[in-house]
Amino acid sequence: MSETTFTPRVFSGIQPSGNLHLGNYLGALKRFVDWQAKDVETIYCMVDLHAITVWQDPVDLKKSTRELCAGFIAAGLDPEQSILINQSQVPEHAQLGWVFNCVARMGWMQRMTQFKDKAGKNAQNASLGLFGYPALMAADILVYHATHVPVGEDQKQHLELTRDIAAKFNHDYGVDFFPMTEPVIEGAATRVMSLRDGSKKMSKSDPSDASRINLTDDADAIAKKIRKAKTDPEALPSEEKGLEDRPEARNLVNIYAALNDQSVEQVLADVGGKQFSEFKPMLADLAVSKMAPISTEMARLMNEQDEIDRILTRGAERAREITAPILRKTYDIIGMVGPTTL
Ligand code: TYM
Repeated sequence: MSETTFTPRVFSGIQPSGNLHLGNYLGALKRFVDWQAKDVETIYCMVDLHAITVWQDPVDLKKSTRELCAGFIAAGLDPEQSILINQSQVPEHAQLGWVFNCVARMGWMQRMTQFKDKAGKNAQNASLGLFGYPALMAADILVYHATHVPVGEDQKQHLELTRDIAAKFNHDYGVDFFPMTEPVIEGAATRVMSLRDGSKKMSKSDPSDASRINLTDDADAIAKKIRKAKTDPEALPSEEKGLEDRPEARNLVNIYAALNDQSVEQVLADVGGKQFSEFKPMLADLAVSKMAPISTEMARLMNEQDEIDRILTRGAERAREITAPILRKTYDIIGMVGPTTL
């Protein structure tokens, strides 16, 4: 069988489940914007079907979806250059998701650490959707034949599963139809940690608001959270190995490097030897200068709900030009009767 060459295409998604934070920004959103600047098609998705795998209040879900779209645009995504979509408005995601439910194996899903974390002790009471979540995620990506997926480190296992699903489909049907997607987990902040506890990931579900910088925080809130961030009593090292066993120090240096588009080595060459009393105000100024304009712009866009809804409707139309033929061809490969368009 000849190796198909797939045109480079970038896809990624974020759940509209509220509390969009600095980890989402540095691990994902900022890097979506970097990819948009390259000569490649970029598609970014608000994954509302994934969000309902755990309970979402209907009024909050609408608000969070529009807020996420506002966050995408405020962070620098241009709805003309990138395709911005809400997952439920592009039905081929769920349709291919069903096909992949029939390709993926129970045992694969049972190994997913995110399922184990989210389901907690009472896995019998978790929704079936939460269990099948990674198959829908594979469909999100593969329904575009996407080749590159920028994400934070916590999504690595899901992207490996996406490759397993693509490989099994191709093998079972004797085709070379779905690409082997590359996860793109890059930069200084692929895993931003809580500001209150350097051993815990910064997360939208942490009950402590002080643990994260929200994309909706204003300048004062951002500066205050950084001033109060947990640290240790030592000065900063001038080399990366000096950050070993210092999770809070490492986290703040990683955040600084990612916000300033520098490497950790470059940052430490500048700030090595400084106490946190000196470094924290530097970090607060940098974070405010990068993040506060995003929150201001998000607040402005949230008053333009009709415009946001129009952007998502237009995004869905553009997306379906790609997804409808790929789904049709998938059905054809499987042996489902219908018009063949490819
Ligand atoms: P979600 O909504 O939990 O997170 C969105 C993105 O933010 C990254 N991220 C972080 N990066 C660094 N540090 C952190 N503390 C941090 N917290 C979150 C995540 O890695 C992710 O890139 N399953 C996905 C959504 C999804 C998806 C997809 C992603 C659905 N379909 C297809 C890519 C492609 C999720 O729950 O992300």
